[in-house]
Amino acid sequence: MLQIDYRKYPLPRLRHHASAYLYIPLAQLRVRPRGYPPVPEQLNWSELFANGAPPTCLDVGCGLGRFLLNYAVLHPQENILGLEVRKKAVEWLDTVIRGEGIGNAAVLWYSVVNGFPFLASDSIEHIFYLFPDPWPKKRHHKRRALTPEVLREFFRVLRPGGQLWLATDVAELDEYHCTLLHEHGGFECEEVHDDSAWGLPLSDQELFCRQKGIPYVRRRCRKR
Ligand SMILES: C[S@@+](CC[C@H](N)C(=O)[O-])C[C@H]1O[C@@H](n2cnc3c(N)ncnc32)[C@H](O)[C@@H]1O
Repeated sequence: MLQIDYRKYPLPRLRHHASAYLYIPLAQLRVRPRGYPPVPEQLNWSELFANGAPPTCLDVGCGLGRFLLNYAVLHPQENILGLEVRKKAVEWLDTVIRGEGIGNAAVLWYSVVNGFPFLASDSIEHIFYLFPDPWPKKRHHKRRALTPEVLREFFRVLRPGGQLWLATDVAELDEYHCTLLHEHGGFECEEVHDDSAWGLPLSDQELFCRQKGIPYVRRRCRKR
């Protein structure tokens, strides 16, 4: 596991959320707001990964990237791309990735509500969607990152048999995810209780839940 030296990489002060409009797809906004992250049609993978190949895994809403960094170190044969809407978190994580020379990890300042126009269909092995923002108030539900459209994008970019990994400590959000997945119909999901069956490194939020004794649910969904 990677031990981050926080004296070498001082953590930035982070707001919990970005501006509200960043959670709305660009195509639904009448004008492009200042400060909206780019929505590229394609990316130059050799600028992001040492082997110049596209990603095999996505970490959606990677935050400060404890999971992404450790997954990359544990799986040197994979390329993992983190997607994160809070720019300061992205800048910090990018500094750590480059400073530690982790050539199979990269992070992009991006709002995933725009789908993945820069990714080929059937190209991704794993999508990790760990502890997404719950947006518990009903009037904020539209800011949730997983919408029917984004789920269709998950399905499109995953290769057949590829897996979507979900975790949340918010029961209502878990119900919402289960409803979306059921309505989509393209995934076979199972709840995973056992750590060894889950087999993934801890994310920052998962570590927080463990330290505070907060229960959470993990689900693994295979693309049919
Ligand atoms: C509760 S944090 C969890 C971070 C990390 N996955 C973990 O488990 O520690 C949720 C993260 O998702 C990011 N996020 C929320 N909506 C997003 C969106 N539309 N696009 C990209 N990232 C998003 C937030 O900025 C935040 O960093």
